[in-house]
Amino acid sequence: MLPTMKTADQERDTSSIAQRFKVAVVQAAPVVFDRERTLEKVHILSGEAARKGARLVLFPEAFVSAYPRGLDFGAVIGSRSEEGREDFRRYWESSVDVPGPAVDALSRTARSHSVYLVVGVVERDRGTLYCSVLFFAPDGNYLGKHRKTMPTASERLVWGFGDGSTMPVFDTPFGKIGAVICWENYLPLMRAAMYAKGIEIYCAPTADVRDSWIASVRHIAVEGRCFVLSCNQFNLRRDFPTDYRSAFGDDPDAVLTRGGSCIVDPFGSFLAGPNTEGEAILIAEIDRAQIVRGKFDLDVVGHYARPDIFQLHVDERPKRPVTTHSPEPSGETGPTTPTTTDTTTASQAASSEDRMICTRLTERFGIRHPIICAPMALVTGGALATAVSRAGGLGIVAGGYAGTLGGEPDLEAELVRAKPGKFGVGFITWALARAPKMLTKALQHSPLCVFLSFGDPRPFAAEIRDGGAALICQVQFLSQIDMALEADAAAVVVQGTEAGGHGGNRSTFPFVPEAADYLRQRSPGTLLIAAGGIVDGRGLAAALMLGADGVVVGTRLWASAEALTPKAHTDKAIGKTGDSTIRTKALDALRGVPWPQEFSFRFLKNKLTDEWADREAEAFRAYGTLSAEYVQARAQNDLDTLAVTCGEAVGLLRNRPTAESIVNSMAAEAASLLRYGGKLKCTSQS
Ligand SMILES: Cc1cc2nc3c(=O)[nH]c(=O)nc-3n(C[C@H](O)[C@H](O)[C@H](O)COP(=O)(O)O)c2cc1C
Repeated sequence: MLPTMKTADQERDTSSIAQRFKVAVVQAAPVVFDRERTLEKVHILSGEAARKGARLVLFPEAFVSAYPRGLDFGAVIGSRSEEGREDFRRYWESSVDVPGPAVDALSRTARSHSVYLVVGVVERDRGTLYCSVLFFAPDGNYLGKHRKTMPTASERLVWGFGDGSTMPVFDTPFGKIGAVICWENYLPLMRAAMYAKGIEIYCAPTADVRDSWIASVRHIAVEGRCFVLSCNQFNLRRDFPTDYRSAFGDDPDAVLTRGGSCIVDPFGSFLAGPNTEGEAILIAEIDRAQIVRGKFDLDVVGHYARPDIFQLHVDERPKRPVTTHSPEPSGETGPTTPTTTDTTTASQAASSEDRMICTRLTERFGIRHPIICAPMALVTGGALATAVSRAGGLGIVAGGYAGTLGGEPDLEAELVRAKPGKFGVGFITWALARAPKMLTKALQHSPLCVFLSFGDPRPFAAEIRDGGAALICQVQFLSQIDMALEADAAAVVVQGTEAGGHGGNRSTFPFVPEAADYLRQRSPGTLLIAAGGIVDGRGLAAALMLGADGVVVGTRLWASAEALTPKAHTDKAIGKTGDSTIRTKALDALRGVPWPQEFSFRFLKNKLTDEWADREAEAFRAYGTLSAEYVQARAQNDLDTLAVTCGEAVGLLRNRPTAESIVNSMAAEAASLLRYGGKLKCTSQS
């Protein structure tokens, strides 16, 4: 959503926002081994920086909550002490889960001060710690992370190595922002990779206090023709616990880290610092025009490169130590038919690690595949949500009509079923407005997200945020996106008319890129998810190419083993073509379900639609006359009257496999197609 709470200074400079703005480098000491108090310090210092006009605030390496300078963790070659193990445990306790409560706290800090926040943290991924940098947008959205790829010397004892999948550069209204941590900056090829991504605001959180470091950051600024923000801690022995067994003795006034933070322009000149005096917030005004002036004579990944001699290949695929191979579903997506000489099917071609596609969606929710199971009323219970999440997607339990329709599954029981894994909960918004307590009850189960569709999400936004859940808003028209942004949605799902169930009349193919452009302008931190007609890896790959961060899948998972869908419904649907569904408002009118006028309902044509689909006005005049008959039809599974709810993608269904096999094959096929796409020959006209 758009930044809130601007300082007076910020208000003044919004007209020149893209060219000139202020940045801050915070040189301070964390509250060592105390994550919560360190987060408070981040909040306070970010506020100070914002009041000084900064739009981006950078904190040092491993700030939350310690760069354990001087600790040896009781290790020598061939032996580790019990005390050293305890030191590691204490360090681990104070580290940060991503995502997790500390990330949520940092989001709140970014939002309340309306700044881009870039913070060094010690990230905990089960038994391994990583030295990471987290990025947040002024609307509070967590943008992603960079894990240090190369810890130095004794750091390797306590920090793992990040792989190539977390080297982001974010395109923001203030230019392209990325981070390279401490001595990673001495990897010339990593610098080249960042230059190739177009980095403009080069954040260099560090722990190096040597004069040679200052020379390095000036060099990088010149080499990359970018602004370098070098940020170190300033701390004294007294900033560490008294029982800290460091090599630096016990003099409380001894300086352990002397700072040296500075801000350098693309010509190597200092705009602020270096400061070795004490804790400080360094502020500098960035003039982005300097970047282009600098590129005039030096662009090391452009006119100053010699790719005929030197080339760099960067592998950004995530590397997982353990990958589970699941049996492939037998042909449920039909044959994959690439239109070139590549004749292997997607699932054959995809090796295990190539099955992963990392996007902002996978990052945001810590999932393996950018696939969300739609909260389908009467269909997505706890079993389906769990199966999708286990497979690496994100399952969203349907709260449907919030109990107002009658005959819906017991939501609380379904949420309990979903609870062992990651899960969200979804509601039809206009129905939730009639039974708002259902949201309160659902939030007590701590869902990761709340998915709202068909109505105004704003009245529920505060409760969802306070409940610790991310808000995902599904929209059917471009004009509804602003409401989602005002509700501070973490993600907007744009639903094409192809979708099963209720929806609007926009088509997925033009709707997704239009929404991508819209969000890029207004709220670049908000994720975009595509829905409607996405049934296999082809749909997923296409959605990503259209600008989405992931997809919501309904119809395909409606016909999965774990769905609550009656067998008679999928038996009737499988084998039908996409021509056999219809979108109409007549049924809701006849059965007396008060859907807002802009939404229609897609389901399989049947006797009822043969009779009524073309007579919507008449159906509204006969409002509710079919109500009792419809309830009876549901009890008797009378499919001549009852809606078999699925989308146009029904024409691609062949069977009813497990959700796990659907998610896995979708991800594998998309990865294979995207790889294949990268090999297409693109020739110039000449
Ligand atoms: C059986 C069924 C029930 C649905 N129920 C809901 C619902 O309760 N709330 C909602 O937001 N969307 C619902 N949807 C729409 C989905 O959220 C999603 O937009 C759609 O399924 C995506 O298109 P697809 O069906 O082509 O995959 C439903 C879809 C289906 C097929």
